Amino acid sequence: MPFIVLQNRTSGQQRTYELKKRITSIGSASDCDISIEDKRIPRHFANIFFDGHSYTIQVASSNLEFLYDGKPARRKKLQEDTNVEIENFTLRFFMERRRQETTSQDTRKDIYQILFETSTRLMSDFSLDTFLSNLIDAIISLTRADKGFIIIFKENTFDIMVARNLEGKNIDNPRDLISDSIIEKVINSKKPIIVNDALNDTQFKMSVSVINLKLCSVLCVPLIYQGNILGLIYIGNDNVANLFDQNSLEILTIFASQITLLLKSALHISRLEQEVDIRNYNSIIYTSPIMTEIMEKIRKVAPTDVTVLLEGETGTGKEILAREIHNYSPRKGNPFVAVNCAAIPKDLLESELFGHIKGAFTGAISNREGKFQLASGGTLFLDEIGDMPLNLQVKILRAIQEKIVMKVGSNKSEEVDVRIICATNQNLDELVKTKKFRSDLYYRINVVRFYLPPLRDRSEDILLIAKYFLNKFKKEYNSNIEGFSINAIKAINNYRWPGNIREMENRIKKAVILSKHPLIEKEDLELPDEGETPILPLAQAREEFQKRYILEALRKNGGNRTKTAKDLGVDPRTIFRYLENIEDENV
Ligand SMILES: Nc1ncnc2c1ncn2[C@@H]1O[C@H](COP(=O)(O)OP(=O)(O)OP(=O)(O)O)[C@@H](O)[C@H]1O
Ligand SMILES: [Mg+2]
Repeated sequence: MPFIVLQNRTSGQQRTYELKKRITSIGSASDCDISIEDKRIPRHFANIFFDGHSYTIQVASSNLEFLYDGKPARRKKLQEDTNVEIENFTLRFFMERRRQETTSQDTRKDIYQILFETSTRLMSDFSLDTFLSNLIDAIISLTRADKGFIIIFKENTFDIMVARNLEGKNIDNPRDLISDSIIEKVINSKKPIIVNDALNDTQFKMSVSVINLKLCSVLCVPLIYQGNILGLIYIGNDNVANLFDQNSLEILTIFASQITLLLKSALHISRLEQEVDIRNYNSIIYTSPIMTEIMEKIRKVAPTDVTVLLEGETGTGKEILAREIHNYSPRKGNPFVAVNCAAIPKDLLESELFGHIKGAFTGAISNREGKFQLASGGTLFLDEIGDMPLNLQVKILRAIQEKIVMKVGSNKSEEVDVRIICATNQNLDELVKTKKFRSDLYYRINVVRFYLPPLRDRSEDILLIAKYFLNKFKKEYNSNIEGFSINAIKAINNYRWPGNIREMENRIKKAVILSKHPLIEKEDLELPDEGETPILPLAQAREEFQKRYILEALRKNGGNRTKTAKDLGVDPRTIFRYLENIEDENV
């Protein structure tokens, strides 16, 4: 490490400064690297520059000068043991005495040791983050770099997977600190490079990152797997005493070749984990024999193009199953489009489904595609098909049979290629009998039919799904909840879950967010005590009773909203709105 000895000629006091930086400032200001306490010396007097080969001292402004071997000067290349005088002080420069060189045998021992340790660590922890951290720390310690980066290529771009400094801390904004031009060179040549004095290197000096970083030395080694570049190890030094040399390049190249296979495995495992996470995120949880049987059939039907009819009470999972069918079909890469036929006003439904042309009706200001066209190549999920008006049922039938649709206001038919999945919580047989649903359409959509049982009839699934939601929301909301209390578990098992899985999802979500205890209590889930009825204000009690009565009536009618509405003497939409209110309340 080169160094400067500063001596006060009056007192004889001496101090030594190592020249670690590219630019070392000298002056009376306390923030100068070499701070001289003398009022006669300007705050910022001079700088010592390192150009990769030699050190030069230069005054900070042209009206200043120093004595160099007794002669006035403003800029001088520093030579070993020469004197620079500034006022009452003398600066003497000494060239570095190289840090103890490692013998090649020591180095080899180091590599094997670090390789052995790194691979042992990888075997014990397959998480990519930990692996990369261990790897970069190993590289930094092996090469004595100041900074290290591991860069992985993804399609046409690259990701800086880890960026660390000598102290083992992560580096912020690493993108600004690496040189694109150096990386490009390594990618093109597939060969490692060493750039000492990057600032003055004719190839790289224009690189913004090189200038920003004031790099002294860069070593960049490709990670090659079966002839292709997987990524790069990029290390840098801004410490002039520690330029990379041919020896460091060889060490890192050997290390890289050994580590690539391990890295490839770590990346592969991480990708698999991500895939499993994505699959789990929307997974259908079940263990009950009845759901197992349904799921087995679903997987068989999914890859075909047959129309599927899903029946079940509200919140039993009709839509999630429809998506599952789509995801297990060859149409997977194309859109899954859902239409809730009950939620769209009757007079808008046709245009929603088939699209319209400009001017077809008031407000049709431009041509618009319908859900059939949007689902092209994919799956169209017709939810609440029982609410489909009779006049549209003919058109749906035509679309399914002839694969042809016509936009509202147009007389041109368009071919569409969609797979249809329908869902209902009404009794379609009943609707056919009462002529509210066309029998031909009914037979057409009823090719394969599944009835999803209410949650209370899948007792084996209840707790399993509850725990699944608990874990899901725990992660999502970063909560410390540990589980359910015994009382909560009892209540979960005893409750009738009229809103089925959706109700459970909402109650657990709310409890995870609001619970103050590590264990979710029955009260957090707001589940009723069996046989215990608290005294409520009359209005609230009436409301509660109405809610329960409607849900009970729905249950008796197997979730058939139209029949329930008829039995209760109200409009079906009132029931629909009522259920929506209950769902909103639960959120
Ligand atoms: N077996 C299951 N495992 C995990 N989550 C489920 C399961 N079944 C349903 N869900 C979740 O419960 C919620 C309700 O399901 P979904 O929307 O599919 O029900 P639905 O039958 O279409 O209800 P509705 O008739 O009210 O439209 C969704 O968030 C869904 O992801
Ligand atoms: Mg639904």
